[in-house]
Amino acid sequence: TCASSDAGTVVIGLAADSGCGKSTFMRRLTSVFGGAAEPPKGGNPDSNTLISDTTTVICLDDYHSLDRTGRKEKGVTALDPKANDFDLMYDQVKALKSGVAVEKPIYNHVTGLLDPAEVIKPPKILVIEGLHPMFDERVRKLLDFSIYLDISNEVKFAWKIQRDMAERGHSLESIKASIEARKPDFDAYIDPQKQYADAVIEVLPTTLIPDDNEGKVLRVRLIMKEGVKFFNPVYLFDEGSTISWIPCGRKLTCSYPGIKFTYGPDTYFGQEVSVLEMDGQFDRLDELIYVESHLSNLSTKFYGEVTQQMLKHADFPGSNNGTGLFQTIVGLKIRDLFEQLVASKAKSPVEAKA
Ligand code: ADP
Ligand code: G6P
Repeated sequence: TCASSDAGTVVIGLAADSGCGKSTFMRRLTSVFGGAAEPPKGGNPDSNTLISDTTTVICLDDYHSLDRTGRKEKGVTALDPKANDFDLMYDQVKALKSGVAVEKPIYNHVTGLLDPAEVIKPPKILVIEGLHPMFDERVRKLLDFSIYLDISNEVKFAWKIQRDMAERGHSLESIKASIEARKPDFDAYIDPQKQYADAVIEVLPTTLIPDDNEGKVLRVRLIMKEGVKFFNPVYLFDEGSTISWIPCGRKLTCSYPGIKFTYGPDTYFGQEVSVLEMDGQFDRLDELIYVESHLSNLSTKFYGEVTQQMLKHADFPGSNNGTGLFQTIVGLKIRDLFEQLVASKAKSPVEAKA
């Protein structure tokens, strides 16, 4: 056969509820790899796939086995495993990982129907993003790295309102109702996947403002699993120590409520992790360089790369807080992991094929 002759495809899983920042994260990630990802040329305009030189991002909604009508008839949500074809997901991710092209279905978000399939060729990096990348054990085992975006209910609500009310004209009541209706299945099928993630970005309301319920200022935690091959957690000042740092002062401009970083070891679902936390937001993005200079193991290629990436995409949501910062850092860590995986496979090609 003509299976790919190089190191094969590195597979990354990104899990989150819809409307929780997956596409923003993908834009930051593909930018770190040096090129914006675009929809396939000349294909179905409603394709959910994004392709760049190195990376193909597929949306797991394409593995819905029940279309919108089917879900309605059976009374199941898109979050329910019964509405998704995990056998096909597994077969196709496995094929791509071993260098074989697939014909992947397309779930059309406009019509709610399944469209004719599109051909996906094996990329260097395959990202599978959606509701269930870590749900099925067989698919999970194909992942070289996995990320879960854990948006707390308060913040999810604030973001949904912003998008669905402002951009889609939904009412406050209908947004509340749709979140409530999804909650049981979210808790049963989506949320538990975070225990399997190599990195979790947790987004919570700030604790710097007493009784804040606006959801504008955020406290963001980057939870990094210890002992993951080719992934060395980022640290602040001193690896393994417990640190609390308020960088506001001579070097950093902070208006109310300021910025607070914390770092230290912890446990997460019984596993050893390092946690880096940022509460608050930057007033001036260029001053991020001061924070960057105090972080280690960032996997940057030159001094200031984190700040440069953040400035480049200052218009993306979350660029002034920990969501943008940690998404950027995870992007750099994934680039590093990819490069190390490729190097290790080049050294032992026989082993890599097994
Ligand atoms: P998804 O791909 O998971 O559906 P998006 O990346 O499209 O999510 O984001 C959905 C919406 O959520 C955005 O339009 C924005 O309103 C809001 N949002 C996403 N990430 C952030 C963030 N880091 N800070 C503030 N709002 C955000
Ligand atoms: C996609 C999204 C789900 C969303 C669904 C809409 O599958 O990933 O998060 O719920 O579309 O489903 P509906 O049955 O409301 O059309």
